Amino acid sequence: MNQPSDKALVPFVSVDNMMRLVHHVGIEQVLCDLAAYIEADFKRWELFDKTPRVASHSDVGVIELMPTSDGEAYGFKYVNGHPKNTSEGLQTVTAFGLLADVYTGYPVLLTEMTILTALRTAATSAMVAKYLAPKGADTMAMIGNGAQSEFQSLAMKAICGVTSVRLYDQDPAATEKCARNLDGTGLKVVRCTSPESAIEGAHILTTCTADKQCATILTDNMVGSGVHINAIGGDCPGKTELAPGILSRSDVFVEYPPQTRIEGEIQQMAPDFTVTEMWEVISGTKPGRRDNRQITLFDSVGFAIEDFSALRYIRDRIKDTDYFFDLDMLADPDDPRDLFGMLQRAAP
Ligand SMILES: NC(=O)c1ccc[n+]([C@@H]2O[C@H](COP(=O)([O-])OP(=O)(O)OC[C@H]3O[C@@H](n4cnc5c(N)ncnc54)[C@H](O)[C@@H]3O)[C@@H](O)[C@H]2O)c1
Repeated sequence: MNQPSDKALVPFVSVDNMMRLVHHVGIEQVLCDLAAYIEADFKRWELFDKTPRVASHSDVGVIELMPTSDGEAYGFKYVNGHPKNTSEGLQTVTAFGLLADVYTGYPVLLTEMTILTALRTAATSAMVAKYLAPKGADTMAMIGNGAQSEFQSLAMKAICGVTSVRLYDQDPAATEKCARNLDGTGLKVVRCTSPESAIEGAHILTTCTADKQCATILTDNMVGSGVHINAIGGDCPGKTELAPGILSRSDVFVEYPPQTRIEGEIQQMAPDFTVTEMWEVISGTKPGRRDNRQITLFDSVGFAIEDFSALRYIRDRIKDTDYFFDLDMLADPDDPRDLFGMLQRAAP
């Protein structure tokens, strides 16, 4: 057995360790911390390398790579989206990711990102809602009660002061699961049997459904003035959740237009449909919500910089803890040019 040197080792955060870490810090605290990291990176948006994610589509789903760099660190996430998976006992979304040092090119972190994606998506939604939701918003409709839904609800509670969530899913078992999981969190939970009843009295409308086609979760006549829509589920070509009429009446905020125009709700609109980039609102150069009658819409698809922020957070947070173990991931020959010799010397 050849013992790897320190240079060969990359910290790895398993699903088990991610769960331990989140419980150690506290879920709502992690959501707040992640939102702060994401907000900080939105403020320095311009210096990042940006590209629409690289997507490989099939009839049943999509597999995507999401890279970015701030010049010092480089990160990417592997993520899939397979709405049919839950019927086969698998998850719709799974992910893992890596952070590397730009100077050496060496990876400095490998981590599970299935749980981390749910956390970062929710943290992003709530961080954005802080800028766009109407003042005093305390009630959220949560349509689609799958894997992301509890994270979304808790982030809106921790970051935006939401106190009540109104749940609806086409599958009552999903609503039951979500309500059960939110029991004891301090949120008032109302189970609804239609999307119309879910949005009654809600100031924030979150749509987070999974379908491999264009759906109409919210029709035009369902959306009154003054609300904030947090549209999470429409995130692939041919996969949307909102009637186009809603987009025409809303001020639409996006992460990265070249990706959102392909994947977001605005794929239903003309290529020059007006949108505001969220980083400009966060940097103070563009207005967010202007008045209490305006409909604001966060057309979220999930962008690489949010994952980069989440990777940065995990890298910083696991220092001096045992929430990771070292993986022998990088070959480290004594003479850097003698890779073959290293292999030869390992012959049994
Ligand atoms: N924007 C982002 O950054 C981001 C990040 C992660 C996931 N997502 C997307 O969010 C969506 C939800 O992800 P998930 O992991 O919670 O999926 P999931 O499969 O666990 O849950 C989806 C839920 O939507 C329900 N649903 C489907 N069609 C519906 C309809 N017409 N009306 C009401 N409910 C309906 C399903 O019954 C299911 O309970 C997916 O489309 C995923 O791709 C987006």
